[in-house]
Amino acid sequence: MGTDDLAYTTEKDVRQLLNFLTGATVAVAAGGAAYPALRYFVPPQEGDGSGTIVAKDQLGNPIPAQQILSEPPGTRALIAGLAGEPTYLTVDADGSLNSMAIVDNCTHLGCTFPWNASAGQFQCPCHGSRYNEQGNVLRGPANRPLKIAHVEVKGDRIWLSPWTETDPRTGERPWWV
Ligand code: FES
Repeated sequence: MGTDDLAYTTEKDVRQLLNFLTGATVAVAAGGAAYPALRYFVPPQEGDGSGTIVAKDQLGNPIPAQQILSEPPGTRALIAGLAGEPTYLTVDADGSLNSMAIVDNCTHLGCTFPWNASAGQFQCPCHGSRYNEQGNVLRGPANRPLKIAHVEVKGDRIWLSPWTETDPRTGERPWWV
């Protein structure tokens, strides 16, 4: 029992998290209530007044940065982000964590969805919207890019903070601000 608990805190934890969240979101998305259902699994966030939080798993435990950074470049890790929103972190080609997190919440009607690695797209199963790896719309009915958040690694913690300045993908003010 104790050994199993320890093992569960390793890299396996992240994989299981990904499987869990991905499976759960797709299953529930079909019922049209993915977002509230996911939030149910995420305990209230910690906050310091600035909206910055530590990235956590579905149990509300902080995810050690090394768990995700030890994954191969190109990995998309789905974590519990700001306000409990399922959020993708990306391991870059140089092995660092991309400073832009992408919120897994379709801008059409709010479904969540898995990253399709072979297509290199986020593909929403609800009404077929597609987004590129940065969250820009490739195909509707969604007509706004996926929300983004800042990512910063400090020590072994991953911090997320709200993105309120210009959206670098559009050069415009973010639609969610
Ligand atoms: S909710 Fe994603 S396409 Fe409709």
